[in-house]
Amino acid sequence: MSSKVEKLVPVPERVEADLDELARIHDPESEGWTRTVFSETYRASREWMRSRMVDAGLQVHPDGAGNLVGVLPGCDPAAPALITGSHTDTVEGGGRFDGIVGVLGALEAVRQLIEHDVRLERDLLVVDFLGEESNEFGLSCLGSRALAGELSAADLYRRDHRGTRLGDRYTAFGLDPSDVLTASGWARTRALHRYVELHVEQGPLLEERDVPIGVVTAIAGIERMLATFTGRPDHAGTMPMGDRRDALVAAAEAVLTVRQEGCGAPVHGVATTSRLVSEPGSPNVVPGTVRMQAEMRSVDVDWLSAAQRRLTEEIRLKAGAYGVDVDVEWSCDNECRPTHPAVHEVISSAADSLGVAWEPVPSGATHDAVHIARLCPMGMIFVPSRGGRSHCPEEWSDLSHIATGVQVLGRTLVELDRTPG
Ligand code: GLV
Ligand code: MN
Ligand code: MN
Repeated sequence: MSSKVEKLVPVPERVEADLDELARIHDPESEGWTRTVFSETYRASREWMRSRMVDAGLQVHPDGAGNLVGVLPGCDPAAPALITGSHTDTVEGGGRFDGIVGVLGALEAVRQLIEHDVRLERDLLVVDFLGEESNEFGLSCLGSRALAGELSAADLYRRDHRGTRLGDRYTAFGLDPSDVLTASGWARTRALHRYVELHVEQGPLLEERDVPIGVVTAIAGIERMLATFTGRPDHAGTMPMGDRRDALVAAAEAVLTVRQEGCGAPVHGVATTSRLVSEPGSPNVVPGTVRMQAEMRSVDVDWLSAAQRRLTEEIRLKAGAYGVDVDVEWSCDNECRPTHPAVHEVISSAADSLGVAWEPVPSGATHDAVHIARLCPMGMIFVPSRGGRSHCPEEWSDLSHIATGVQVLGRTLVELDRTPG
């Protein structure tokens, strides 16, 4: 290892200053550090992001899908490029680290390369992917999905709860929907070598094991369920209990069934109900219709598909006992995606060479890496999340852990640059 490469040690205060500055750009009307995709707050934050990329020494090229792509030119512009990054949007009421650490950490890694005059052979692309968090259109990872050619024209016709089409949201944000659909073109013509993403774990494993680095083994698949329970609205004061067809009672049974499935998962597997909308919602009317939103995730694909079948059957069976009909629709947000063994190997030996302890960990959260894996081999580096909390204002990762993650990222990029193929 050259002495220049050994000097690639991140400056934690610089990362901290960036984290603080970006956190200031949040929606004042919402809880936490909210910056949801397509919001005016997000628009403002990306202006800041773009200038931060330029300050770090990158040439910034926004693409047709709304991704901010910062390029650090290498010695050989024809060689397949390295790519790293993550996202800077948040969930409603989200935190200051999810996704953000991967983008701001990559900027610090770039500053280190420039300051210590470590010139990569390959171009290095640092990407702030558009809208990674799942949105009202039921689609996560908008930017990376578009790059991988996994966003379809039909997706642009998806509607949010106000009836607005996804395509129209892109237009209002200043992006042409036809450019969004063709953005995968640049990623295909610009051959990509390897993708590595630094992220906070968002779960408790690393903290429990007191290990500063996780090398991700696989990213969980996500199956989403929309169930509509149709019972019968009746007078809540007069209809006898035994004669009711109460859609909300059937949905309540379904919520418990979803939980039971999650609790019965043999390996990492979880199941969550996140929304119930009951109609007509009057205090004196037996609920006639309920719409329920739930999801299941696992890195065990066999469990996931079997649990999906069991859940559908059981929900129908239990609802039938209340005289309620159910229509269950499933959609796959993303399939389970193992990380590439070759990238896993480079990350873990980078950690070893820095004397940093690491452990293999699965990811229950989804990531842009799932989609970029369609373009080139991918791997992920995790740093611990305090109390395993995430998607909440209390989300926290210690600066020392983030700095270690950035150092492992920097060393990994240098090593991947030298990997043939
Ligand atoms: C994104 O954070 C997700 O896992 O849904
Ligand atoms: Mn994330
Ligand atoms: Mn998230």
